[in-house]
Amino acid sequence: MLIIKKTDELKDVLFRIKSNGKSIGFVPTMGALHQGHLSLVERARKENEVVVCSIFVNPTQFNNASDLAHYPRTFEDDIALLEGVDIVFAPEEEEVYPEPPQEIYQIGVLGTVMEGAARPGHFNGVLIVVKRLLDWIDPDKAYFGEKDFQQLAIIKHFIKEYHPEVEIISCATVREPNGLAMSSRNQLLSEREKEIAANIYRILRESKTLNTTSVQPVKDFVTHQIAAFSEMRLDYFEVADDVTLQPVNSLEEAKGVMGFIAVFIGKVRLIDNLRYK
Ligand code: PAJ
Repeated sequence: MLIIKKTDELKDVLFRIKSNGKSIGFVPTMGALHQGHLSLVERARKENEVVVCSIFVNPTQFNNASDLAHYPRTFEDDIALLEGVDIVFAPEEEEVYPEPPQEIYQIGVLGTVMEGAARPGHFNGVLIVVKRLLDWIDPDKAYFGEKDFQQLAIIKHFIKEYHPEVEIISCATVREPNGLAMSSRNQLLSEREKEIAANIYRILRESKTLNTTSVQPVKDFVTHQIAAFSEMRLDYFEVADDVTLQPVNSLEEAKGVMGFIAVFIGKVRLIDNLRYK
């Protein structure tokens, strides 16, 4: 495994690999790796001759200084977990942002709802770093998780304009045995909080069994169920078209419909989603 910190070195190494005609799969991450990340890496290994994984806690996508300061950083453990990956790109902040970035991307309606509304500037920061990474790496395929469904949708849309040659591969959400979606932020929860957090997915699953096509009862159910736990605070729960991400009032309104949730447990904010149809 090569651990590279400089973009010049990365470009040199990848130039040689590409000259030999090898296919490249890329998995961008912010580290604090878990089985969710590793499922992306596994898939990339199956589908490409060379796998590049990046580890960079991207400051421009944090809209809250304390969230950035507390984001878990476990570099040594991450490297140990990435066995089998050919290249780990782990740049310092100055390498990615020699100057404060100025790019403003027009994200459109996909970015105005849910995470876009709750975390101003977040997706612009994601796009800034993803574009830079793709410019440097120019992989054949890049892997993203459905856990961050809105991010995936925005990146798929954005890539068409900036890197149409890169194929975006969506990967299913990996969960703990109790249903909690794996997340780097789970490391910030106590064992008891993790057990409470498992109710998020349980409640989402139960909301699917309500015998209704109208969205309001589903929203009421989820809101009340979350409110029953004093440790949890609902940030939002939306039921939306899986393509446009715009809210729907009835499950009949779109071909694919999903529920999207963000919940605070203490200061830790968790997101999850579930397909209704
Ligand atoms: P991070 O949160 O580290 O996630 C890296 C990738 O792993 C993302 O594509 C995310 O959707 C995926 N992932 C996280 N948890 C998952 C789970 N439980 N199951 C399946 N996939 C999961 O997302 C980011 O970093 C950043 O925004 C990034 C794209 C790297 C840009 O900075």
